[in-house]
Amino acid sequence: MPAAARRFTVISRDEPARTRRLIEIRGLSKTYRTRAGDVPSLSPVDLDVDEGEFIAVVGPSGCGKSTLLKLLAGLIAPTEGEVRIDGEAVREPPDNVGIVFQSPVLLAWRTLLRNVMMPVEVRGLDRATHLARAHQLLETAGLKGFEDKYPWQLSGGMQQRAAICRALVHDPALLLMDEPFGALDAMTREHMNLELQRIHGETNKTIIFITHSIPEAVFLADRVVVMSSRPGTVEAIYKVDLPRPRSLEMMGERCFAEITKEIRGHFYARGALD
Ligand SMILES: Nc1ncnc2c1ncn2[C@@H]1O[C@H](COP(=O)(O)OP(=O)(O)OP(=O)(O)O)[C@@H](O)[C@H]1O
Ligand SMILES: [Mg+2]
Repeated sequence: MPAAARRFTVISRDEPARTRRLIEIRGLSKTYRTRAGDVPSLSPVDLDVDEGEFIAVVGPSGCGKSTLLKLLAGLIAPTEGEVRIDGEAVREPPDNVGIVFQSPVLLAWRTLLRNVMMPVEVRGLDRATHLARAHQLLETAGLKGFEDKYPWQLSGGMQQRAAICRALVHDPALLLMDEPFGALDAMTREHMNLELQRIHGETNKTIIFITHSIPEAVFLADRVVVMSSRPGTVEAIYKVDLPRPRSLEMMGERCFAEITKEIRGHFYARGALD
């Protein structure tokens, strides 16, 4: 089809910043040293992310997506290279970041509400303001009425929704999300996708979002980063020019099918579709 009619562009390297650059990833690599030997898990990655941008990361299982996110969050140290957020090299978890892990990791001895309030306590933020925010987030996530329950009294999907509330409660400028909706049923997942799009649109948060779902990546992202097999690196970047806000109906349109098909092609090419 003619290039002008395309709603997406393939870009081989970063374009110049449109707004303020928030994240700079330079030559970032990670090799885990284990008793059984070295496990190279991330080949050098270079990527810049602008403030307010929504980046989705897709790649085969085990290619290093969670590793990349943990490096961005300052939870593990790189073998080589560095991550800079707001010009500062990341050496420990920065304050202004919210993280949703691949599994919910809630504290078993805390109620849902007290789990959600954790980042507020850890950072010593104003309790009253954030309590109201926590209640509002729990309501949005369909967890109203469960504030006083313990994690083991809830389903896996409910726990994951609570973990998302916890990542948002201190209103971080940067959200790092590792397959946050993977455990949710299809309807809840669609609802959460719309909610996340709304939050992104209203708050100008920068979001790095890992997913195994290519349609989810295209629905949410400004750019979709496709990673290669382990040790993963950036194989391609797709800029998604679909207008916002995006509706679920848009997922049935031709332009949407074209971009998902093209991205899926990367996986089929190497026989590694999850
Ligand atoms: N702490 C660790 N020690 C040793 N090896 C590790 C460690 N964490 C991850 N790995 C290895 O590094 C590679 C990348 O792991 P990672 O969890 O980043 O992959 P992923 O892309 O997130 O996979 P998935 O899609 O299944 O979540 C894997 O081969 C994994 O076994
Ligand atoms: Mg992972």
